[in-house]
Amino acid sequence: MLQTSRPTVYIETYGCQMNVSDSELMLGRLVESGYESVEQPDGADVILINTCAIREHAEQRVIGRIGEMKSRMKRDAVLGVTGCMAQRLGSQLLDRARHVSLVIGPDGYRDLPALIESARGGVRTTATDFDLEEHYEDFTPRRFDGVKAWIPVQRGCDYKCTYCIVPTTRGPERSRQLAEVVRETEAVVASGISEIVLLGQTVNSYFDGQHDFADLLRAVGGVPGVRRLRFTSPHPNDFSKAVIRAMAETEAYCEHVHLPMQSGSTRTLKRMLRRYTREQYLACVDELRAAIPNVSLTTDVIVGFPGESEADFEETLSAVQAVGFDDAYTFKFSLRDGTPATRLPASDTISDEVASDRLARLIATVRGATRERNLKLLGQRREILVEKSARRGGLLQSRTRDFKVVMIPGDVSLIGKYLTVKLTGTTGSTFLGQVVGQRAELPLAV
Ligand code: SAH
Ligand code: SF4
Ligand code: F3S
Repeated sequence: MLQTSRPTVYIETYGCQMNVSDSELMLGRLVESGYESVEQPDGADVILINTCAIREHAEQRVIGRIGEMKSRMKRDAVLGVTGCMAQRLGSQLLDRARHVSLVIGPDGYRDLPALIESARGGVRTTATDFDLEEHYEDFTPRRFDGVKAWIPVQRGCDYKCTYCIVPTTRGPERSRQLAEVVRETEAVVASGISEIVLLGQTVNSYFDGQHDFADLLRAVGGVPGVRRLRFTSPHPNDFSKAVIRAMAETEAYCEHVHLPMQSGSTRTLKRMLRRYTREQYLACVDELRAAIPNVSLTTDVIVGFPGESEADFEETLSAVQAVGFDDAYTFKFSLRDGTPATRLPASDTISDEVASDRLARLIATVRGATRERNLKLLGQRREILVEKSARRGGLLQSRTRDFKVVMIPGDVSLIGKYLTVKLTGTTGSTFLGQVVGQRAELPLAV
């Protein structure tokens, strides 16, 4: 029989888990249409760069990468830019880079195979319309991770935090039907994955017209074979009593919440339009801790938001200490075109020098808090799920239910397994573990 080789596609992903999940959907769609996935751009027939626009630095990296592709891609390859930066810049990207032939925003992936076909014929296209019905229900994602599955339950965002580009790049919020999320969960479990991470920009505001996030947690947590259930990122204002109760009562739900704080100063929070005060945020922390004993908490914090005074910043430091976060992702404010923050007076701008200094102080405070918490955990036992080989030392990297990273000795055959370890050492952020038992691998809910 005549062997015709399949066209190849390479996808490179920047940004948040939502983008990773979108790349999995795009790859699934293309593999179904006859493409073969490859790990390198050189020689690929199609190259897609799935981009992020959250901070200027993220965009600069992508601009550099697009430039680099010019010399790396083969002559007749199709280069497409997808995701949030594609949505934000649209046809400007086609004007700026002649070797790019497709610019596709987050709601335009349905037509990907057809758009690639026409690009092969020399047609350059921008597809940046929002589609409020689009959830790619009929796509079968090609998952990059064999141990945990990211399942989008919501697209877009209806908050309007003044620093944030996401409402512009991903459009209005919409939720998938609960039954569809359950169906995808069942398929994931059937493929051998037992950890589920539900995704949305404000995931706990999920509402499919009938069911809220509490219903969703109970439904997904009740699928036989789901042993670990997480979600990211919730908004503090959307933690209703019902949602917190569902978290506490759903056995698979892991004892960890990523709870973006952004600032510890009510004045700054107001200017960010976060819609909660410092006190309300701290009250939310208390409620979560009361309902879920030993819950670990991580957060996102921005420093140098326009008008942030030294006193405001110190309130952020004191909030970090008051909560005692298990970890925090810290960012220097980046002014994004098209966000409400661009309308603040120029005199509010915080110099890079001051912002850098605040960032360094914040990181030191976070590290101190993390270290203090982690030292207290030494000697304790934890269930871990082995995720992958660690980058160094021939170790494996695993996670506890409360989201701690534990390095253990062992070979790759342990990846995907649940084990019990004793926490024997910590760098302050990650742990070293000694395996003390192999737990039965029967899924919890069977
Ligand atoms: N939807 C999520 C966050 C999405 S963006 C939420 O509401 O929590 C991830 C993080 O990037 C944000 O939590 C924020 O801390 C940071 N971020 C967003 N816009 C930013 C900007 N313009 N400058 C610096 N950091 C920003
Ligand atoms: Fe951005 Fe705020 Fe929406 Fe999060 S909730 S995506 S920070 S606008
Ligand atoms: Fe970036 Fe878009 Fe996610 S801007 S953080 S990839 S939603």
